Amino acid sequence: MHNEGRVRVRLPFYLLLLVLLAGVTVGLAGCGGGQQEEAEAEKPAVEQPKEQPKEEPKEEPKEEAKKEQEEPADLEALIEKGKQLAQANGCLGCHSTDGSKLVGPTWKGLFGSERELEDGSTVTADEAYLRESIVDPNAKIVKGFPPAMPPYSQLSEDELKALIEYIKSLK
Ligand code: HEC
Repeated sequence: MHNEGRVRVRLPFYLLLLVLLAGVTVGLAGCGGGQQEEAEAEKPAVEQPKEQPKEEPKEEPKEEAKKEQEEPADLEALIEKGKQLAQANGCLGCHSTDGSKLVGPTWKGLFGSERELEDGSTVTADEAYLRESIVDPNAKIVKGFPPAMPPYSQLSEDELKALIEYIKSLK
């Protein structure tokens, strides 16, 4: 009697379990399939606008990094241009870059130094002084040197900048 009772109780229980399991499996598969289809249908609409803002901030730092890299390269090119201009204009016939004294003062360590002038005053060799010394060399005569430098007022603004950067680079 006891055994029969157990079987009777168990059978409907197992059946119920089976039905439930089958129901859950079918239900999940159905829902899952449906969700996949929905997701696939939404993909092009949803992901396209997502990708665009993603790429934009990526490109901006790249461009900034490029600019940072270009600056020292630009300065190097400017210094190289100044060196060539100094050779082409005969500056290096009167100015050394190694500290030795020629007709004119050496350019080595010139930028930022105190210059003693023929009239007894002193001036700091900043960019404005270098510019004036090239365009109008007789405005300030360096002490101990003859006023022998011709004015180079025909140089363009770019050429002046390059020459000044070249002199600045000779430390
Ligand atoms: C014929 C020789 C001669 C040539 C060429 C010449 N210079 Fe000079 N330069 C001098 C003399 C001499 C002085 C110092 C007297 C003075 O202050 O003018 C001088 C002074 C200078 C100074 C100031 C230097 C200092 O110690 O304060 C600068 C800068 C300068 N020259 C740049 C140039 C540049 C750039 C060129 C070429 C574009 C050039 N010079 C060509 C003879 C020359």
